Amino acid sequence: MKSKAVAAEAAPTVSGAGLGLRRELVAPLLERVPEPIGFFEVAPENWMELGGKFGKQFRTLTERHPFVTHGLSLSLGSPAPLDTAFVKRVKKFLDAHRIRYYSEHLSYCSDDGHLYDLMPIPFTEGAVKHVAARIRRVQDILEREIAVENVSYYAAPGAEMTELEFLNAVLERANCGLLLDVNNVYVNSVNHRYDPRTFLDGVPAQRVRYLHVAGHYVEAEDLRVDTHGADVCDPVWELLDYTYAKLGPVPTLLERDFNIPPLPILVREVEHVRELQGKNPVGAASAATVAAEAAPTRAAPAIRRRA
Ligand SMILES: [Fe+2]
Repeated sequence: MKSKAVAAEAAPTVSGAGLGLRRELVAPLLERVPEPIGFFEVAPENWMELGGKFGKQFRTLTERHPFVTHGLSLSLGSPAPLDTAFVKRVKKFLDAHRIRYYSEHLSYCSDDGHLYDLMPIPFTEGAVKHVAARIRRVQDILEREIAVENVSYYAAPGAEMTELEFLNAVLERANCGLLLDVNNVYVNSVNHRYDPRTFLDGVPAQRVRYLHVAGHYVEAEDLRVDTHGADVCDPVWELLDYTYAKLGPVPTLLERDFNIPPLPILVREVEHVRELQGKNPVGAASAATVAAEAAPTRAAPAIRRRA
């Protein structure tokens, strides 16, 4: 069963390293975008209804630089009906700003109302079918492929399969892309006691559209909390290096949502992403840039599971 999703209008690619755009960064970035930053990411919910001064400033940035979006509220795993009116508003936003790609969390944040947190979807066969059908519906409305992100989670009630099996089953059934969050892989590997490299080896390379990297909070030796509020730590940098060695220099976005340092400090981390990408110009199973892979859902290559 193929999705009806089709290519977005010839969108330029994103590549290299990107930075999550926050309102406090807009003014310095309008003056000058530092060289290592190749693209930006925003949550559509925070920017699509924006008018006035911020709306104009945002428009200036999207006219000058490539953007991707990372949604917060689509609630792909929710039992509640899909908010199709919201998805249509997202489509207008993507088209208006020529946004290169749309990703969302493989989680849910609503039932009757919004929960203001991202809850893990149970790793069950029934949930695979449910969430994959919703992803396909979203792709059909948006007329483009989306990517789903592996999320951090702290409990897995009622699991019938592993996180990796669940992720792969959803990707295959939904015929969608993967936003691979390397920090989340690391956080989950500590909290749920698995080898993060084995997890990365099991991810379908052809589905990877872009990466996230971020910092987290060390609550205890065996408990990490995914906060996006700290610098990226050495084990996550090492895991990112390992990912590039496997996949090549996949476009990578630095997320920073709390304790936001001045722009030059963030730029140093973006620069480090670029250095690691430069070390690994070709991966063992090379993944292409976002738009090159993203456009043709119909013609997407078959999944090759990589053990
Ligand atoms: Fe992420």
